[in-house]
Amino acid sequence: MTASAQSIASDLLSWYDRHARELPWRSPPGAPPPDPYRVWLSEVMLQQTTTAAVAPYFAEFTRRWPDVDALAAAPEEEVMAAWAGLGYYSRARNLIAAARAVSARGAFPDSEAGLRELPGVGAYIAAAVAAIAFKRRAVVVDANVERVVSRLFALSDPLPGVRKAIRAHTDAITPSERSGDFAQAMMDLGATICTPRDPRCLLCPLADDCAAKLQGDPAQYPVKAPKKAKPQRTGTAWWIVRDEAVWLVRREGKGMLGGMRALPSDGWSARVDGYGAPPVAGEWRKAGVVRHSFTHFDLDLVVMVLTEGSAVPPGAGEWWPIADLEQAGLPTLFAKAAQRALA
Ligand code: ADE
Repeated sequence: MTASAQSIASDLLSWYDRHARELPWRSPPGAPPPDPYRVWLSEVMLQQTTTAAVAPYFAEFTRRWPDVDALAAAPEEEVMAAWAGLGYYSRARNLIAAARAVSARGAFPDSEAGLRELPGVGAYIAAAVAAIAFKRRAVVVDANVERVVSRLFALSDPLPGVRKAIRAHTDAITPSERSGDFAQAMMDLGATICTPRDPRCLLCPLADDCAAKLQGDPAQYPVKAPKKAKPQRTGTAWWIVRDEAVWLVRREGKGMLGGMRALPSDGWSARVDGYGAPPVAGEWRKAGVVRHSFTHFDLDLVVMVLTEGSAVPPGAGEWWPIADLEQAGLPTLFAKAAQRALA
């Protein structure tokens, strides 16, 4: 490590010793590491999701499934329903598969390479778990770290191309001791001081080392390639009620919202123009349109309500009491559609 890399690491760690956020999946700075199950679970939940959104889900999951064997033994539908609202549902399917793999082998792998073999565990989660739970030296790069490091070194190439340079610079400043605390310190710095807009450089422990601060406008980093406009799709969801209960289906396979309970709908997840035929004949009324943004497209989902007609919808499904709809574990898109139908 160069002298300046060493001083960056030690300045950041002593800042972390004083300012670490208290989070339910963490040990305090310098304390023995937390249970790998809790570290892994939190990191899966925290991918693409904020700490504030994750906290209640983390509490509920660890209450219901306190260790990896309990999660491995849980029925898949229950885990999927408990995940409802967190989004990116392939994470939940992989979570179950990984829990079962860990439970079968008896323990979490304790190296980055071993962790990477688990379903849903990519470079980021493997590095984070190896560093935080197993005290391995690992180079942990998430969006917070990308922002901090691109500013620290004023890396002017745009994302995503600049990622290789970001990784190399992060590697250069990652200490061999306490690399888990170092990674979490970078995340805390990114979340509380080195924020996307209006970074609070006066409070930053790395201000004297920061090339972007020296230039005068740190918020311009990381530079981003211009975004492509998201495609717009349209689809229809069907609200069919009988005896105070609504017809729910389970979405198939591994595609969009796969494995989740849902209202019957047409092919919006695969097609641009999803005006399909209703699942049962009858008098339909348009209750409204729900807008929802997915990673790769925006969706306008038309909500149609059956006002008269009695046929049982074809295919598998269940009549779910409307009074208990919150327990159905509907993903946000369909929870919004249900609200629209009930309004
Ligand atoms: N974001 C992802 N992982 C995190 C962690 N361990 N602490 C805080 N924020 C995070």
